[in-house]
Amino acid sequence: CGIVGYVGPATPSARPLDVTMEGLSRLEYRGYDSAGVALVTPEGLVSAKRAGKLSNLREALEATPLPPATAAIGHTRWATHGAPTDVNAHPHLSEDGRLAVIHNGIIENYGILKEGLLAEQVVFTSETDTEVVAHLLQRAHARSGDLTEAMLEVTGRLEGAFTLLAVHADVPGTVVAARRDSPLVIGLGEGENFLGSDVAAFVSHTSEALEMGQDQVVTITADEVRVVDAAGRPAEARRFTVDWDANAAVKGGYPTFMDKEIHDQPMAVADTLRGRLDRDGRLVLDEMRISEAVLRSVDKIVVVACGTAAYAGHVAKYAIEHWCRIPVEVELAHEFRYRDPVVSEKTLVVAISQSGETMDTIMAIRHAREQGAKVLAIVNTFGSTIARESDAVLYTHAGPEVAVASTKAFLAQVTACYLLGLYLSELRGNKYVDEVADYLEELGKLPEKIQHILDEQEEHVREVARSMAEATSVLFLGRHVGYPVAMEGALKLKELAYIHAEGFAAGELKHGPIALIEPGQPVFVVVPTPRRHTLHSKVVSNIQEVRARGARTLVIAEEGDEDVTAHADVVFRVPRTPTLMMPLVTVVPLQIFASELAAAKGLDVDQPRNLAKSVTVE
Ligand code: G6P
Repeated sequence: CGIVGYVGPATPSARPLDVTMEGLSRLEYRGYDSAGVALVTPEGLVSAKRAGKLSNLREALEATPLPPATAAIGHTRWATHGAPTDVNAHPHLSEDGRLAVIHNGIIENYGILKEGLLAEQVVFTSETDTEVVAHLLQRAHARSGDLTEAMLEVTGRLEGAFTLLAVHADVPGTVVAARRDSPLVIGLGEGENFLGSDVAAFVSHTSEALEMGQDQVVTITADEVRVVDAAGRPAEARRFTVDWDANAAVKGGYPTFMDKEIHDQPMAVADTLRGRLDRDGRLVLDEMRISEAVLRSVDKIVVVACGTAAYAGHVAKYAIEHWCRIPVEVELAHEFRYRDPVVSEKTLVVAISQSGETMDTIMAIRHAREQGAKVLAIVNTFGSTIARESDAVLYTHAGPEVAVASTKAFLAQVTACYLLGLYLSELRGNKYVDEVADYLEELGKLPEKIQHILDEQEEHVREVARSMAEATSVLFLGRHVGYPVAMEGALKLKELAYIHAEGFAAGELKHGPIALIEPGQPVFVVVPTPRRHTLHSKVVSNIQEVRARGARTLVIAEEGDEDVTAHADVVFRVPRTPTLMMPLVTVVPLQIFASELAAAKGLDVDQPRNLAKSVTVE
């Protein structure tokens, strides 16, 4: 879910609602089942909420405007408990209607708390776990007369994960918030302050922010930010500056954020490389806070991640094992955490995450650190939980990614993994400075190559995609680094176009999946290597095998590779690139394909059904 809080000047105005709605529109990728706001006004507490996308709430507010206010909270929901209806939308109000609360996370002991409240004749209006908090806060506030105290008391009774924001009609100009295992950052303004699930909520107003620690409670007014720990003692919150350009989070003339972000990719790769190379083009990773001695002793790397980030990890495996001769395992974070994995002080865990807030990944890194492993995070979002809880962070500089399906963050993650691999390789004496410099030079050419694909192939890919709007099943094959690209291509199509899609290792084809091939079946084949590579002819054979059984073959191959032409119904060309770096180019046509096919089916490209960009529950 996305959460926004705002407190402004003492004179009531429209600004609290405006800032909150703008923040919600920037956070809508976190959930879009329903949305709502609550305002503290001179007339008391007012609120509005609607099922469906934020635009429904916006229309409702236009039809029935809310009065000027001094403080506001807003929420955009990804349903956990209770269907996405108007009543289950947040905020939830206390029985007297004077207190409102919004919540991200899951309150695990809400059943027992609810029983207690029912015994006191409290009338519940929703099916959510959140509503218990509204009633408990009202009671605690009635006892102490202090909203911060009330929040401390109530959060002490809660089990589970939460970010909670509350406002009360009797405490104008104030928002109180708490967090446990769920994200919350504070934005520092002048004569106004902000709260958000992530910095995107307020980055257009301020780039100065504070990270909040676990189990802390914050009280913001127009001029003050007060953070306390669970015992109510003053606590430190670390200050940081967000280097995102606020304009990066607007569509900039593209029909969808996804299209815009696909076009941001040359820049995302260039920005992720920038600052990591010194004047002589040598690799410097200043942010590597894990000692060289520890990194030299590492005997295994485990990448933990989910979704697209996990496919970036699969690419990393090929590169890091080849360059560093260290075994690399790649595991979905939710599976890693609960299977008693073998981890020691000599294990380097690499957590990859765009948002830095994926709960499955957070749990995995906590588990790894408990076992003594060092955790290196590859993260895109400043001040996020994964960044804060890891031993070192290598930020990807992709800028804010808004479309739910990840594109530029993936390319930036893969780029950061290459940097890590080359760094470790040099440090451990597997590759020498000059060889690393050659690879870095090749990496430096990638932004231009990606741009070249956009310039030369985009229209062709889109045309093919439009012609396939009726497809019900699409297969993707790849070998070597083309295998994770095939899986990512399939994921994009599932997420965006709701088409059944599978990515296979092409060598595995004959062991089962080939039975799926019938006349007309579309099969993408990612040719993972330049023509001179030994694997190349094997992939060409795989293309022939599916074609012989009637498949329609759509092949992604490098420019000048004529071996594939005779066996391909359609060829998408990418510039010649060293094998290990080919994912940065081969994935691009697949992203464009999925986006265009979804658009051709009339679907919402940026916000596919049932998904959320940042999944902060396990
Ligand atoms: C969600 C998103 C995916 C994303 C995954 C991991 O499932 O819908 O697009 O790849 O989470 O997110 P992260 O922020 O950890 O990279």
